[in-house]
Amino acid sequence: MKFSDEFIEKLSEAERIVFFTGAGISAESGISTFRGKDGIWNKLKPEELASFDAFLRNPELVWEWYQYRRKIVNEAQPNPGHLAIAEFEKYYKDVSVVTQNVDNLHRRAGSSNVYELHGNIERNYCINCRTFYNKEDLQFSGKIPVCKSCGGLIRPDVVWFGEFLPEDIFNDGESKAIHSDICFVVGTSAIVYPAANIPILAKRSGSFLVEVNIEETELTNFADYSLFGPSGKILPQILEEVKTLRKA
Ligand code: OAD
Repeated sequence: MKFSDEFIEKLSEAERIVFFTGAGISAESGISTFRGKDGIWNKLKPEELASFDAFLRNPELVWEWYQYRRKIVNEAQPNPGHLAIAEFEKYYKDVSVVTQNVDNLHRRAGSSNVYELHGNIERNYCINCRTFYNKEDLQFSGKIPVCKSCGGLIRPDVVWFGEFLPEDIFNDGESKAIHSDICFVVGTSAIVYPAANIPILAKRSGSFLVEVNIEETELTNFADYSLFGPSGKILPQILEEVKTLRKA
């Protein structure tokens, strides 16, 4: 793939890089996206599975759905897109990943600075006493796990519809975006707020905004540069360019 001269110059001069990622980066690992023709929210209703009210109404159903997703995520492997992002750390002093994904694949790929705006499907906590549980520590009573300390209901540590994002993580991600020289927006429809503010803030603060997606999105006209194709192919090609421009 031939990149523009402007993009090559930015890659050559940048010091701080942010990757803002969404479900599309994990599509090539076999994890479904939310929207689009095979998207999860085309087949299932988020208000029945991904809200606190739904959880209180029917915790068994919500747990069944999360255990199913957790199995898919556990069996999935980071793909060349995740791995390329992790390898950027060899070439730039400050590389951050601000992700809407809960699948933990950026960390498993080796990225060190990951800001998870929507939580992490591998973590859980008690809704009464907020004791945290890793997936290995969950004790099930029937179909749902209960807290060892207080007997309360345990929920996945993910952000559901109608809930606030974790404030510290959002603020840190925002700050990384504001101070970045290049902000890559990878595999996201960029329509879910407040997360979708991150690339907008980056560009308004002077960062060069590069979109990587298989198709146009709400952000395409706002981006400085768009690369269309699967992120598992495009990101490794960008990394190859970086290798010729910068020393590890
Ligand atoms: P979406 O499902 O809305 O968008 C996925 C994007 O990935 C689309 O723009 C696709 O075109 C693109 N895409 C698909 N395959 C790709 C590939 N191989 N390479 C590059 N791009 C690809 O997912 P998100 O934008 O992540 O929130 O959705 C945002 C939030 O909405 C999620 O975090 C979730 C959901 O409801 C919560 O659960 C709170």
